[in-house]
Amino acid sequence: MNMSKKTVILGVTGGIAAYKSCEIVSRLIKQDINVQVVMTKSAQEFVRPLVFQSLSNQPVITDMFEKPSSWDIEHISLAQKADLFLIAPATANIIGKVANGIADDMLSTTIMATKAPVVFAPAMNTAMYLNKIVQKNIRTLKELGYYFINPSEGRLACGDVGIGKLADVDVIIEEVQQILNSRQMDYKGKNLIVTAGPTRESIDPVRYISNHSTGKMGYAIAEAAIKRGANVTLITGPTHLTPPPSCNVIHVTTTEEMYHKVLEYFDSCDIVIKAAAPSDYRPKTVRPTKIKKSDKAMTIEFVSNPDILKELGKKKKHQILVGFAAESDHELKYGKEKLEKKNLDMICINNILKDHVGFGHDTNQIEIVKKSGEQRMLPLMTKIELAHKILDEVLDLQKHP
Ligand SMILES: Cc1cc2nc3c(=O)[nH]c(=O)nc-3n(C[C@H](O)[C@H](O)[C@H](O)COP(=O)(O)O)c2cc1C
Repeated sequence: MNMSKKTVILGVTGGIAAYKSCEIVSRLIKQDINVQVVMTKSAQEFVRPLVFQSLSNQPVITDMFEKPSSWDIEHISLAQKADLFLIAPATANIIGKVANGIADDMLSTTIMATKAPVVFAPAMNTAMYLNKIVQKNIRTLKELGYYFINPSEGRLACGDVGIGKLADVDVIIEEVQQILNSRQMDYKGKNLIVTAGPTRESIDPVRYISNHSTGKMGYAIAEAAIKRGANVTLITGPTHLTPPPSCNVIHVTTTEEMYHKVLEYFDSCDIVIKAAAPSDYRPKTVRPTKIKKSDKAMTIEFVSNPDILKELGKKKKHQILVGFAAESDHELKYGKEKLEKKNLDMICINNILKDHVGFGHDTNQIEIVKKSGEQRMLPLMTKIELAHKILDEVLDLQKHP
């Protein structure tokens, strides 16, 4: 094994998608990564170890008690050598075993012994995947910091159509690369507050006003910061997203709630990135009972909500304060005004009317303006890539304020 290269331990478990792991091995090898395959007993019913041995140029580990081909690969040293563990496909069984601390074969024992990031790429029948026990096990593992690459929807080998298909090999390789490359831990020891999503302001017990924010940008920033070693408090309005593993998640509904939570954590944080879209206004009064439909026009009086960024701008001492400006016109002008008025260190400006930009998209395109006047237009990219770029710029701000 070449020790200067990164090492991925690929755990293959017993599902139909095991054959797709052959492609994963060859793609990783082409990227100059050492791959050591560990197969469960069931996995060997689907693909012969010889296939993986030939693709990885390494003996495949199949049994904890067989005489190892070299003492170099017994389970503890294997666990220590790993830069990353990838379990693909991951059966309901291996997820359940790891979530419950069971280590009864080579793969589960090695996972238990490793300090490297462990990434599960589940693949199974839809009903199995949605089973409450499986979902609970996934939640448990996520909370403990294990990574998951969600399965996709489509026609499954069993004939069902639904969620449960192993994620695309491209997606798996990208995620593996991202985790391997972002392990420089340049945010270790830094405390971040990231806000995300919309807020909701009730009109009556049934209705509310809100906006089109989905939280994707803020969640991407939280995820990227965690992977770089930060302690992240994610203060989020209502979204359908799953928070990244191992962050302190605080759910809020209204702008006032978000305001109080951000202030509560502000003193002990180093960096605030405000990617949320809190509602600027709320109805003056919330009707206690449902407003009944009538033929008459209706007027609702709104009052201003607290301005979270402005308040932080006034209070900040050592903290770096980063805001977002989602504009539909004159974005640079409005963005620069916001940077100045709210005493920010940096603002990320986007025009939400551009294609593939802003609310709900997986991609975004921003222009960064710093308080020094430095300006940088970034190209369209995925929100997770953009999150890393924003974090790079924030580190730069800390080094050269
Ligand atoms: C034909 C066949 C296909 C299977 N496909 C899957 C699958 O896609 N996902 C899964 O979680 N289990 C699947 N199973 C069940 C697992 O093989 C079984 O739970 C086994 O105990 C998993 O062991 P392992 O996790 O140690 O590999 C399948 C079983 C058979 C017979």
